[in-house]
Amino acid sequence: MATVTFAGPTLPKDVTVYAIAGDTSTLLALAKKNNITIPFQCQDGECGSCLVKVTYLDGKTPMAIHLTEKEKVTLSVNGKLTKDLLAQAEVNDRPPPYRLACQFIVRDENIRIEFSGEPGVE
Ligand code: FES
Repeated sequence: MATVTFAGPTLPKDVTVYAIAGDTSTLLALAKKNNITIPFQCQDGECGSCLVKVTYLDGKTPMAIHLTEKEKVTLSVNGKLTKDLLAQAEVNDRPPPYRLACQFIVRDENIRIEFSGEPGVE
C-alpha cells in the first residue's frame, strides 16, 4: 500500500495517508477525502490552480505515466514543464516534478506532495 505525504502551509504538520492499491482516483480526490486543502478550481486540468510538487520517496525510478494533453499545456504555460521535461515525459513516460493534483492518478508508490496553499503556486 502506498503512502502519500502532504506538506503545505494549510497543514500544521505533514500528513501521511494511505492510497488504496488499485484505486485510480486523483491526488486531488485523495486530498479532499482526507480534508487536505489543496487549492483547485476547474478540476479538469485547465486552470493550474492545483499545482503541486511531487517527490518520489522509494529511491527507484518512478512508474511510467502518461500526461494528459491538458496537463501538458497547463504546466507548460505556467513554466513548470520545460521542453526537456516534456520530452522525458513523452519519450520515456517519466513524470515531471510538477503536476496538477486533479490530473495525477495515485499509483502504488510512496510520494511526498508539496503545495503552497496559493492557487497555481507550488
Ligand atoms: Fe484546475 Fe486542477 S483544478 S487544473
